[in-house]
Amino acid sequence: MHLLRILFAIFAVQHVQSANILGIFPHVGKSHFIAFEPLLKHSARTGHQVTVVSFFPQKDPPANYTDVSLREIAQIRKEAVNLQLFERSNKFINSLGLKMFLRQIFSFRPLSDLALNVCSGLVKFQPLAEVMQKHYDVVLIENFNSDCVLGLLHIYKIKAPVISLLSCPMMHWSASRIGLTDNPSFVPTITSQTSSIGSFLERLENSAMYVYFKLWFRYAVQVKERAIIEKRFQRKIPDLDVLARNISMMLVNTHHSLNGVRPLLPGVVEVGGMHLKDKRSKTIPHYIERFLNESEHGVVLFSWGSLIKTASIPKYKEDIIVNALSKLKQRVIWKYEDSDEEGTLSGNILKVKWIPQYELLQHPKVIAFIAHGGLLGMTEAISAGKPMLIVPFYGDQPLNGAAATSIGLGKAISYADMTEKSLLEGLQSVLSAEMRVSARRASKMWQDRIADPLDTAVYWVERVIRWGDQDPLHSAARDLTFIEYNLIDVAAVILLAIVFIILVLRIVVNQILRLLSASMSKKEKLH
Ligand SMILES: *[C@@H]1O[C@H](CO)[C@@H](O)[C@H](O)[C@H]1NC(C)=O
Ligand SMILES: *[C@@H]1O[C@H](CO)[C@@H](O)[C@H](O)[C@H]1NC(C)=O
Ligand SMILES: *[C@@H]1O[C@H](CO)[C@@H](O)[C@H](O)[C@H]1NC(C)=O
Repeated sequence: MHLLRILFAIFAVQHVQSANILGIFPHVGKSHFIAFEPLLKHSARTGHQVTVVSFFPQKDPPANYTDVSLREIAQIRKEAVNLQLFERSNKFINSLGLKMFLRQIFSFRPLSDLALNVCSGLVKFQPLAEVMQKHYDVVLIENFNSDCVLGLLHIYKIKAPVISLLSCPMMHWSASRIGLTDNPSFVPTITSQTSSIGSFLERLENSAMYVYFKLWFRYAVQVKERAIIEKRFQRKIPDLDVLARNISMMLVNTHHSLNGVRPLLPGVVEVGGMHLKDKRSKTIPHYIERFLNESEHGVVLFSWGSLIKTASIPKYKEDIIVNALSKLKQRVIWKYEDSDEEGTLSGNILKVKWIPQYELLQHPKVIAFIAHGGLLGMTEAISAGKPMLIVPFYGDQPLNGAAATSIGLGKAISYADMTEKSLLEGLQSVLSAEMRVSARRASKMWQDRIADPLDTAVYWVERVIRWGDQDPLHSAARDLTFIEYNLIDVAAVILLAIVFIILVLRIVVNQILRLLSASMSKKEKLH
């Protein structure tokens, strides 16, 4: 039997012929799923049986790709973020320097409600229970705002190795589950404002956020999700954090040349851009193509992504934007839900409901991109080598904006403090010849890889299928307690030893002094 297994394993090095892959992605934001979709579809096309549980079933699934739609357990989120939220906060909060803290804390709050809501739906969702009865060789899940799926895998006794996928930079709670160093003295957390932590205040803020969000995820999400699962199935399950520390590896949608250098491990592989290769090319609508053709000085593309409701922008701010844009000699395509079917043209600005973003970014007439700093849009811009003006709102956007600035891919400006002047200056700098050259250089560096990111992801998924936990990819730090990891026990012993030595020395010195002074006074008496 043992020999057979070895023979099988050796054979399997060359081929993972047809593995059963289960992907569970219970997050309602489409941009996350877009990052993973090509890996899932590609796996089905290369001969694996792929079962995908998500809010985004395929319209036209490839052979051997089975969808289980979660649409009935929650609403998907689209154009859900109201821009009124990002107006200048009150002076009192600003004056205390608390704005950034509060912005970061509030932007995460909805994510725990969302996680618990979806988890409550998942535990009762019969199609998922059926899917969980089958055998799988690997399970792909997202590492974002929830660990509910890990609890369910335990309930249904699925022993397959688990790979976590991240569509954004690593979350505050990602590193510890694989044993990765994320010391906040130099590793920016995902909500950080800057991409290089240095000054005392930056380290203070980064450390505060690091501790706050670890605790937040533990108590606002993990503990509550565990309770939801235990209540539904009427039995105890291990702490979700313990289950999380059993994942095999992570595939992260970043690349150091864009997102900055941070410590990695064999089990943390950067695959930034893996969603680009397998994308089915969308055609550019006729009216947009005509607009591009007629623009002799080029076009600036303007989109704040799929989650922000652009039409909720206050009137005065829209005027600021329109005034600044109308001073450009270039023309502008603005993704704006409230516009006509064939776009609404006024002056040099064409507002359109929907854009084929990546196709437009690759179009030679498009020379710059006004964006919100979501990682998918940034990835598309760096791949196309187009400079960006980033107006970050929440989540990882400020960090991404800072990263783009530091590599010469673009510039970031504040939305709350946006004026016609700041916007126009930002645009002029992004449209400058220097920025266009540095964006192309950043693009070349980003593309310069040992292998294509999708092929890299496929390789690692198949490697994990082949070896599972026989080939650990995490570091030993994963299994240490807080005290052990931070050497607090060792430091305490060293401190005690030092105190002990000082005490002993003091006693010895005192004794010597006493003996000396005794012998001195004896000598004096003799005289
Ligand atoms: C789908 O799976 C079946 C069974 O493994 C296999 O025979 C078939 O070739 C697969 N189809 C594709 C398109 O890979
Ligand atoms: C940890 O994962 C391995 C597979 O990689 C599995 O065999 C084992 O049962 C898991 N342990 C727990 C506690 O879930
Ligand atoms: C735009 O220009 C290209 C190349 O010159 C041409 O092939 C295409 O038909 C034009 N499209 C429109 C809508 O005018």
